[in-house]
Amino acid sequence: MNCAERLVALFGSQAEVARRLRLDRAVVSNWVKSGYIPARWAMEVEALSSGQIATRDVLNEANSRKPIRLKSRPHGESLFGSLLLGNDTMNDFSPAKRIRSFHPPQRTLMGPGPTEIHPRVLTTMSQPAIGYLDPVFLEMMEELKALLRYVYQTKSALTFPLSGPGSVGMEYCFVNLVAPGDKVVVCRNGVFGGRMIENVERMGGVPVVVEANWGDPVDPDKLEDALRKNRDARVVAFIHAETSTGVQSDAKALVEIAHRYDALTIVDAVTSLAGTPVLVDEWGIDAIYSASQKCLSCTPGLSPVSFSDRVVDYVKSRKDKIHSWFMDMNLLLGYWGATTRTYHHTAPTNALFALHEALLLIQEEGLDNCWARHRRHHVALKAGLEAMGLKFLVKEPFQLPQMNAVVCPEGVNEEEVRKTLLAEFNIEIGAGLGPLKGKIWRFGIMGYSCRPDNVMLCLAALGSVLSDMGLPVHVGDAEAAAHDAYASMHTRAAQAKAKSKAAAAKAAA
Ligand SMILES: Cc1ncc(COP(=O)(O)O)c(C=O)c1O
Repeated sequence: MNCAERLVALFGSQAEVARRLRLDRAVVSNWVKSGYIPARWAMEVEALSSGQIATRDVLNEANSRKPIRLKSRPHGESLFGSLLLGNDTMNDFSPAKRIRSFHPPQRTLMGPGPTEIHPRVLTTMSQPAIGYLDPVFLEMMEELKALLRYVYQTKSALTFPLSGPGSVGMEYCFVNLVAPGDKVVVCRNGVFGGRMIENVERMGGVPVVVEANWGDPVDPDKLEDALRKNRDARVVAFIHAETSTGVQSDAKALVEIAHRYDALTIVDAVTSLAGTPVLVDEWGIDAIYSASQKCLSCTPGLSPVSFSDRVVDYVKSRKDKIHSWFMDMNLLLGYWGATTRTYHHTAPTNALFALHEALLLIQEEGLDNCWARHRRHHVALKAGLEAMGLKFLVKEPFQLPQMNAVVCPEGVNEEEVRKTLLAEFNIEIGAGLGPLKGKIWRFGIMGYSCRPDNVMLCLAALGSVLSDMGLPVHVGDAEAAAHDAYASMHTRAAQAKAKSKAAAAKAAA
């Protein structure tokens, strides 16, 4: 049986295959008739058949039926010259098509991250490569750590970026702080709290879960109750800004409760850092991690972390070996520590240049101004979304400015709206996760993506798509509401400025 026949046999009919691949039935019928599936469908077929029909089988079959011809080469000449025998243009491992340099489209990124990246950051990233032990690089690292201490509002010397995405930051905290048998209270109010529980279990710890409804913040009373019942709990972990719902929990209150019961705290600040206040020293956070691609607006793949002295003391006192070589805090400190510089792993140098520049941009703007910008554009975006009749998932006091989750109206195809925004307006917004899949849209205004032009474009595009779909949305209403919101915020700011100027003049007189 060829791959086309195998695929049909697997799903019972050509119609079912067509439905699952979102194709016209005539296309599938043509595959069966011609006896092969075109190479460009190879990966989809492997995914659809859960690996039962391998990409390679589809490619080889397609190539034997319809060999790839390269315009730049004379007919019959092998892609690999004399390395290959015969006139086969492909071996088992070569790509199925001619690959050219990659040029991504210019998108407006208004999802849950990554964000758009400031041109200064992109330029910095393309600077010449240097070694990770080069004295110039080491100097840059020290500045980078100082800038991170600024955004985290901490004096802790143990503040540095890990080579890896936010998930690495999360795992790093758990692998160092949770020994087998340790009891850990995890607060779950969305997808990422669930991942924390997974981490505890994988470290051999015992999770005690404090649940909250998705869209609600973590309830401090419930945490206190759990700690009262589990006085041997060593660690409390929670998500400050739950990206899957757009809710913010009261980190200060939760850390205070944890400390009252002598537990260390692990705080996820992946979406909160630089978007809303994260005051590590003032709140007494023990271990915190974030990610470079959210409100820091850098390229994905770095996870800034910060640890208190309590954490270092605990890790040093652990009798067992940390269950990960790469993430063992004791070993990594040899590289990131200010006095020692021993090889640990090859640091992603150019990505770190970029993070340095992204943090510098925040410092130039001022952290207070950066938080205020996220709030200002959230207020305008919210006014626009509500003017279209959309409802927020999260109650007003707990809404995150940088992550706005709204409920998809009854009868509207959630996915089609996102796809149309991307195809027709080049705008990416986020979908719901887990139980909220298909039910909400998530509008991120993080970092460099948090700009008035993005807010207005997004509202205009969404209004047009929803009205085309037959929703009673009057095109232009959302933009007008956002304009009004901006105007009244500007008026209030001007009045406040005039008032403080007058007060200063009076005091000086
Ligand atoms: C709250 C939260 N924690 C952790 C992560 C994981 O970060 P990353 O995707 O960079 O691994 C995310 C990613 O969106 C997140 O939103």
